[in-house]
Order: sequence, then structure tokens, then C-alpha cells
Amino acid sequence: MSAELVCFEANCRARFPVTEVIYNCTRCGGLLEADYPDWQLDHGHMKALWRSRRISNLPLDQSGVWRYREIIPFVEDYRSVVTLREGNTPLLPAPNAAEYGGLARLVFKHQGFNPTGSFKDNGMTCGVAQARRLKMTRVACVSTGNTSASMAAYAAAAGLEPLIFLPHGNISFGKLAQALEYGARTFQVEANFDQILALVRVLAEKLGIYMLNSMNPFRIEGQKSIVIEMMDQRDWRAPDWIVLPGGNLGNTSAFGKALRELHVQGFIETMPRLGVIQAEGSAPFYEFSERHGEGEFRAIAKPETLATAIRIGDPVSWPKAWHEVQVSNGAVEKVTEQEIADAKAQIGRCGIGCEPASAATLAGIRKLTAAGTIAPDADVVAVLTGNVLKDTDYIYRYHTGQLEAPGGVKIASTFGNQPVVVPHDLDRIAYAIEH
Ligand code: F0G
Repeated sequence: MSAELVCFEANCRARFPVTEVIYNCTRCGGLLEADYPDWQLDHGHMKALWRSRRISNLPLDQSGVWRYREIIPFVEDYRSVVTLREGNTPLLPAPNAAEYGGLARLVFKHQGFNPTGSFKDNGMTCGVAQARRLKMTRVACVSTGNTSASMAAYAAAAGLEPLIFLPHGNISFGKLAQALEYGARTFQVEANFDQILALVRVLAEKLGIYMLNSMNPFRIEGQKSIVIEMMDQRDWRAPDWIVLPGGNLGNTSAFGKALRELHVQGFIETMPRLGVIQAEGSAPFYEFSERHGEGEFRAIAKPETLATAIRIGDPVSWPKAWHEVQVSNGAVEKVTEQEIADAKAQIGRCGIGCEPASAATLAGIRKLTAAGTIAPDADVVAVLTGNVLKDTDYIYRYHTGQLEAPGGVKIASTFGNQPVVVPHDLDRIAYAIEH
């Protein structure tokens, strides 16, 4: 299978070998994507083959990414692949969350079940495979926490040296702790995500370090598997909507590419609509969509949100994401800090749980159903991007009435659940239980 990189810009479409170490088009600066010119998949055969791999003990088959390797065929030698058995994440029906979101039914695809607790693992196994193929020894990323946790783990497993750059003071301790535990050299930079990314791009070029941020097209190839696995689990019946949070917009780009490819190759008969949800204080993509994509894309200089995973003002992949939202006839919504916090508690009450950024999905669904954009009987899958234990500080503060939005506005503990302090006394504990 021949693979190439192609410029995403419609009026450029320059092509490059997949073995070139580039992240942007050298002709026009556009984003790059992997392309397979002589690609033709027999969808009936592939569906049966992929299903049969679920009972295989081969590491590649056990991965919820590499099981679908024919649809991400950029690797030539699979010995460069390191898998931690990523993917394999469940579809979880959540009737209570559905009701809260104004829907008859709702299913969560929970990417928090991944080895490092977020959807980043689906892409990272591919990015690291490419790094090894290119014989790079050092890999770097700028991250709001999850990419760094994932990159640290995969780099460690692959014998590469991970270098991580984080916005100082603005990532959760759980994510920072993961990077440290997996042995990454970790730099906490006194700037925001967008500023650090601009700096590290120059640094990586200068020092010959391979960048594993989501503008890396091979990570996007891996993240396609979230949608592919979802369809496999649904016996290839496409939902009406797939709803996900939007930060740097890599995942939106990956989902759109996967859907287009599955549709063109005949795996699915209909195209789901993409619903992208942003946090109110970090919503440049929402603002752009409100203007119907007219004029310049306006970055937000000082993005704010307690959902630190999506605290991004200048999303790198917006041109791709905008294309995918349009092609899928999708929608972009923004939600407040209070809406995210309450939706998150509702997801918790389903016995499911997730990190704050993930809960933007349910908050967004609630708004989109109220506005009539999503019909109450629609078949909706919401993607929960990160595990509930990623940000425990947020949870404790919410339930004990101590959570404050940026700027100091108090978040109401609407569905709060205070722990109760009791003396070591049987009768008084019994009394507390009964009253
Ligand atoms: N949800 C979670 C839990 C995330 O960690 C991220 C992004 C997103 C949603 C948004 O995805 O950027 O593809 O639109 N986290 C990145 C990071 C930026 O560094 O971990 P996106």
C-alpha cells in the first residue's frame, strides 16, 4: 500500500513522501494528511476480518487501533509498532444522562478506558510507530496534560526519550503525575498552550526532535480508529450524531476523515453529523462557526476554562475541523463552566464518570436539543475523552461547594455530594444514615 502526505489546502494539494519529517506543507504552510492513492478496501471482507481479530492473541490484533490496520496503512514494517492494547473502549448506554440531555437515549463511547486514560492513546501508538520508522530518538509535545501522559507512556515503552512542555499551573496533577511516572523530561513553561506550541515547533526543528502534537498527521490516522471501532461495535449502523469536545481540534479532524473514508469505501451508508462543543472561555471555533466561516479565524489570546484539557485559544487544526463540520452538516456549540460542571456530575451519577472537558459533550447536547438542532429521538453517541480520575481536585471542589470559575465566580454545587464527617460512634452514624 503506497502512502503519501498531502496538503489539506484545496488550492495546493502538494504531495510529499511519508518518510519526510514535516508537519506542514513546505509550499503553502497548510496542514498535512495521510493519503493512500491506490486504496481500495473490500468492506465486506474487512468487516469479517476485523471482527475475527477480536479473538486473536496477537498484540497487533488485540489493539483497538492496529486491528483496523488496513484503514491506517502508512506503516510498512509492523516491528516499529508499540501497542499498550489501546482502544477497545466500550459503548455505554446512559439513560439518566440521556434524559438530562433531552434525548430518549444516549450512548457514551468512553475513551477514558484507554491505557493512559484518554483518547490520545489511539493516536499516540501511530505517532510513535512513525517516530521509530523515521529513526528519531527524541519525541516532544506541548500539552494540556493528556497528550503528554500518553506520549510519555508510549515513548517509554518504545525506548524513545520523551520531552514534555506544559503550561505551568494549568494542568491537573493527575496528568502531570503520569508524565513524571513514565519518566518523561517535563518542562513547566510559564506561558499558555498556544504560546508554548509556537516556541516548541522552532525548538524541535533546531534540535531534530520529532513533534507528536496533533498536527502530526500520523496521530490523526490513529484517532480515526475511535470512529471505526464505534461503527464496528454498532454493526456498522452509523448514528445520527457524534458529539465530542473541541480543543486543538485534532480529534474533530480525525473523526471527519474516518467518516468520509468509511462512507466512500462503503462501510457505512449514512454520514453522521459531528457536534463539536467548546468551553465558553476558549471558544474560537464556535465564534468562527457563528460567522459561518466568514473572515479570518480569530484566535483568543487568553483562553480560560476549568476544563483545562480544552483551554486552547488558537487551535492548530481548525481548517480541517471546519471542513469536517461542514461536510457532515454538523454543529458547533459552546457551554459555560456551570453547565460543564453539572453535566459532569450527571455523567458521574450514571456510574460512568469522566474528566471536565469530556462533560462538555453532555452540556452541549442539552443545549442542542433545547434549540431543536438535535431531535429528541436522534441516535447520538457522545465521546467521553478522558477518565474520571484525571482531575480529582475539580471533583472534590465541585461536590464540596469550593469550585470557582476563572475570574472567581463561584460554581453552584447543583448536584453536590458532600462527604459527611461523623464521630466514631455507632448510634450517631446510624442516626446520620437514617436522617
Ligand atoms: N478532551 C480531552 C480530555 C483532551 O485532553 C483534549 C485535548 C480534548 C478533549 C480536545 O481534543 O484537541 O483534539 O480538539 N487535549 C490536548 C492535550 C490538547 O494536550 O492533551 P482536540
